[in-house]
Amino acid sequence: MIKFDNINNETPYLVFRDKYTESVKAKQKNIEAICISSYSSENKEVNARYVNLKIIDGKEFIFFSNYNSPKSIDFNSHNQITALIYWNNINVQIRMKAHIKKTSREFNKAYFAGRDEEKNALAISSEQSNVIDSYKSVQENYEISLENSNLSECPDYWGGFSFTPYYFEFWEGHEKRLNKREAYEDQNGIWIHSFLQP
Ligand SMILES: Cc1cc2nc3c(=O)[nH]c(=O)nc-3n(C[C@H](O)[C@H](O)[C@H](O)COP(=O)(O)O)c2cc1C
Repeated sequence: MIKFDNINNETPYLVFRDKYTESVKAKQKNIEAICISSYSSENKEVNARYVNLKIIDGKEFIFFSNYNSPKSIDFNSHNQITALIYWNNINVQIRMKAHIKKTSREFNKAYFAGRDEEKNALAISSEQSNVIDSYKSVQENYEISLENSNLSECPDYWGGFSFTPYYFEFWEGHEKRLNKREAYEDQNGIWIHSFLQP
C-alpha cells in the first residue's frame, strides 16, 4: 500500500488518489509497482526498472533504493525521469514526468529503523546490480548480514528518492478503443489541463 501524508489538493493529485482508491477496491496486486526511467549521460542510454512507490508526502513521490546502484548513478548525471504505473484491474495507466533527488539522511535513518529486519539485512548485504558468482553467494551474504549487522542502522548507501511531477497523464481504457486521456502540465504553478487523442 502507498502511504499518503500531507495530502495535496491540486487536481492531478486528487485524480491520482481517486484512481488509487478505485484500484485498491478492485484488489489490484502489486499496487505499489511503478516503472522509473533513467538516462545515463555517460553511456547515452535509456534504462527503466520497477520499484515500489512507498509514500506520497504532499507533492513528493518517494521510493527507496541503493545509492550506488546504476539507477542512482544515472540520476546523479541526469535528474529528469518519467514514471509509469499500470493498474490492470481498473485498466488505468498514469504517466508522470519529474526531476528526482535523494531524500535526507535523517529521513532515511528514521524510515530504515521502522522496517522489517529481514528487509534491512538484504539492503545492507546487497551491492545492488553488481555481478556475483552465484545465487548461493547472495543467500550467504544475506545470512551473514542477518547475524552480524545492526539491522536498524541505515547504511549510507541506502535511502529514498523523491520526485515531484510537473506532468501527469491519465489513460483510461474504454470499449472500442475509445480510450480517455487527460494531461495536466504545471506551467508556472498552474496546472494546464488537456484531453489527448487516444
Ligand atoms: C515490482 C517490483 C518492485 C521493486 N521494488 C524495488 C524497490 O523499491 N527498490 C529497488 O531498489 N528495487 C526494486 N525492485 C528491483 C528493481 O526493478 C531493479 O532490479 C533494481 O533496483 C536494480 O536496478 P538498477 O540496476 O537499474 O539500479 C523491484 C522490482 C520489481 C519487479
